[in-house]
Amino acid sequence: MKKAIVIGATSGIGKALALLLAANGYKVGITGRRENLLAKLDNEKPDSFYYLPFDVTADKLEENLNIITKQLGGLDLLIYSSGVGELNSALKIDIELPAIDVNVTAFNKTMVWAYHYFEQQKSGQIAAISSIAGLRGSAIAPSYNASKAYQINYLEGLRQKAKKQKLAISITDIRAGFVDTKMAKGSGKFWVASPKKAALQIFNAIKAKKSVIYVTKRWQLIAWVLKLLPRFLYERL
Ligand SMILES: NC(=O)c1ccc[n+]([C@@H]2O[C@H](COP(=O)([O-])OP(=O)(O)OC[C@H]3O[C@@H](n4cnc5c(N)ncnc54)[C@H](OP(=O)(O)O)[C@@H]3O)[C@@H](O)[C@H]2O)c1
Repeated sequence: MKKAIVIGATSGIGKALALLLAANGYKVGITGRRENLLAKLDNEKPDSFYYLPFDVTADKLEENLNIITKQLGGLDLLIYSSGVGELNSALKIDIELPAIDVNVTAFNKTMVWAYHYFEQQKSGQIAAISSIAGLRGSAIAPSYNASKAYQINYLEGLRQKAKKQKLAISITDIRAGFVDTKMAKGSGKFWVASPKKAALQIFNAIKAKKSVIYVTKRWQLIAWVLKLLPRFLYERL
């Protein structure tokens, strides 16, 4: 039986992924801060889930990852779905910093922990939900977009490292467009996918050990446009 941890499984994409993994025979360690939601999920499939509530920004992150891995009896796949991001047109520092704590610092600690775990094991899979937002800067959410750019770049670095070390560690960067969760903020949203649909595309990409995917697939088109748009035009948007 394969074993996975989903960090940020209390709601949204992480929750949908946890349910899908369980339905596909995985034993799944589920985490997040909201213990009541983890307990509820666990209650749906007690044979599939193990839960451990924790805040990824707390000191004991690595200790908690060790505990939940021990509970599972090993680990094949780690998914980082925890994320924070607020619109911040007033550019207030207290709104900017949480995205760095969760999407950069805790993400980084988790990636280092997972990489070393799989390095020792000589195999494993890491996946993280970055975002289409990581492709360019944003006037209304500068910290969020920058944190997602960090994730995209970091995952590429780890992929290169695994190749150099000839390790069978696959690293999947999931660049999501709009998904119908509380993270999808702002007006003018389009191509909004349900968490269930997003989770299915993510699950298939992880199975296929893809390096980078856009969710849903049509967001690849937006990615092309974003990458091609010259800076002088982008800055006027
Ligand atoms: N929805 C979109 O349109 C969209 C688009 C692109 C990328 N994404 C990315 O997708 C990922 C999942 O977000 P979502 O859309 O599924 O939104 P969500 O339902 O709000 O899920 C966010 C998850 O992050 C967890 N989290 C936040 N702060 C945490 C902390 N300090 N410690 C531990 N867990 C924490 C939350 O759990 P607790 O609150 O229980 O701790 C929750 O499970 C995020 O990285 C987001 O940036 C989403």
